[in-house]
Parts: sequence; structure tokens; C-alpha cells
Amino acid sequence: MPLSSSSILAYGCRYRAPYYNKHFTIFSSPFYTLRHHSPLRLPRVPSAYFRTFSFFNPPSLSTGNSLFSRMEKHFSGPAADKTKNKAMADQLRRCGVFSSERVAEVMEAIDRGLFVPSGTAAYVDSPMPIGHNATISAPHMHAMCLELLKDKLQPGMHALDVGSGTGYLTACFAMMVGPEGRAVGIEHIPELVTWSVENIKKSVAAPLMEKGSLSVNVGDGRLGYPEAAPYDAIHVGAAAPEIPKALLDQLKPGGRLVIPVGTFFQDLQVIDKREDGSISTRTETSVRYVPLTSREQQLRG
Ligand SMILES: C[S@@+](CC[C@H](N)C(=O)[O-])C[C@H]1O[C@@H](n2cnc3c(N)ncnc32)[C@H](O)[C@@H]1O
Repeated sequence: MPLSSSSILAYGCRYRAPYYNKHFTIFSSPFYTLRHHSPLRLPRVPSAYFRTFSFFNPPSLSTGNSLFSRMEKHFSGPAADKTKNKAMADQLRRCGVFSSERVAEVMEAIDRGLFVPSGTAAYVDSPMPIGHNATISAPHMHAMCLELLKDKLQPGMHALDVGSGTGYLTACFAMMVGPEGRAVGIEHIPELVTWSVENIKKSVAAPLMEKGSLSVNVGDGRLGYPEAAPYDAIHVGAAAPEIPKALLDQLKPGGRLVIPVGTFFQDLQVIDKREDGSISTRTETSVRYVPLTSREQQLRG
């Protein structure tokens, strides 16, 4: 998969380090100096930024969100590596990004190394360009979204992954809902859909795709995917200026939608549809994602 853009930096990530842990030195992009409305009280950032930036040269794609940057030389590789993938998941769990056993199992089972362009650092906690002005989101965002959606990804449930990109998260969803469920990815760049299918074929989710409970489709994700609606879980991997009505309509009563909402910086919103059809919304954190837009607009950059 050729990389078409070097300008896609800091997309598909939380825009500050998610969890401060004394075992990690946090370095950051200048975004990290912004104020956030997080429930967690973090140490004052600018000093951490300058302290670490002065002696540690971050990789060009880092976003200020890396829990693993110092380990990059140990965690980089062109091919899948089960040990490194497990170590990445273990590290995210230790840092509190997720806590559930089911999320740990699926992150171990679906090897991120199969879903990144060859030569990229698969196990570094950073988004990576995948061409077409898109990125694979950072592992901490994948982990966080799996944790937020895990109760709606029970065996037999239906899940929609809007902006499925590499297919990584769609494959995770498929493993969680199992052969009786349905996991659907929708992505508007046909080349990414073709590539994501190849990625999934190399993964343990391949039999689910063969049997039809996992599929990836070309289309405008703002319209959802009515063919497999309603959904217990909807994840949107790109930032919408406002919540697309079609996605709310395709959410099952009792279902949950996780979506970044905003323009330059966004709120990761968690939207629950109650059994009576009413909606509750809360903001989980602040993030920075590529826009949910038209194909033409995305390719123009
Ligand atoms: C940050 S990437 C995340 C990809 C995926 N979650 C992953 O980690 O591999 C956002 C994706 O949304 C796609 N996208 C943007 N707007 C879209 C739209 N209107 N319909 C479908 N996909 C869209 C982009 O092409 C890109 O692949």
C-alpha cells in the first residue's frame, strides 16, 4: 500500500496523552499544551513537553499520545508479530486505556501488524498514514472505542464501522459479535476497501468474512448501511461536523454510537439510544480525527 500523503499527522488519536503513568515519560506535540475538559487531572503539560522533547526526538508521526515511543525500536516491524502485538495490548491495559478481558482477547487475536502498510511501526501508539489522505487510528483509540462499545458487541449483535479504513476495527467487531452476529465496515475509498479485505483475509477474522458475518463495503458512511440495520453498535472513525441523522436512525433502541464530533479538534461523543427512542449524549474525551467528508474533498486534502 503506497503512502500518498506525508501531511497527515496527528489524526485518529486522542490529542493529549490519555493516561499519565510514572513509568512512561510523556512527550507531546504542541497540541498537548491545550486545555482539555477531561475528568482526569493530568500534570501540567508544557514542562513535560519541553523536558522530554529536548532529549527525545519523536518519530515524525507521533501525536503526543504515545505510550510506547521510547520502545519504538523494539515495537516496530514490517510484519505481524504476535508477541509485540500482545505486548502493545498489555501496555494499553496496564495504562488503564481499557480494562475488560474481552477487549484484551480481541486485541491479542487481531494483529495490528497485518493492518498497516509494510515498513510502518505497527505496534507504536500512534496513528499512521495509509494513503488517500487517511490514517489507521492510534492503538489507544481502537482500544478506547472497543471498551466503550463492548457491551453492544456481544455475540449475535450487529455492528457498523463507518470509515473502516484498514479494516482493523471491523475485524475486531466481527470477532466480538461472532458468526451469529454481523459486523459491517463502510469506507468511501475503494482502494482502501480492497486493501482492507486483503488484510482481513490474513487475520483470524478471515473465516467470518468467508461466511458472511463480516463484510466491508464501498459507500458514503454518512448514510450508514441500511442493509444490515438496525445496529447495536456504531463506530465512526472520522470526525463529523454534526451527527449524521442516518446513523441515529440506524441505531437500535438500546444501542450505542461512538463518534468524533467537531471540526479541527473534536469531542469523542458517546450516544445512547434508550429503549423509548430518546437519546443521551456525553463526551468521553477530546480527539483529532480526519474529517468524515466526501471522497472528492478528502482526496483534495
Ligand atoms: C482515521 S481513518 C480511520 C480508519 C479506521 N478506523 C482504521 O483505524 O483503520 C478515517 C477513515 O474514514 C474514511 N472516511 C472519511 N469520510 C468518509 C465517508 N463519508 N464515508 C466513508 N468513509 C469515510 C477515510 O477514508 C478513512 O479511511
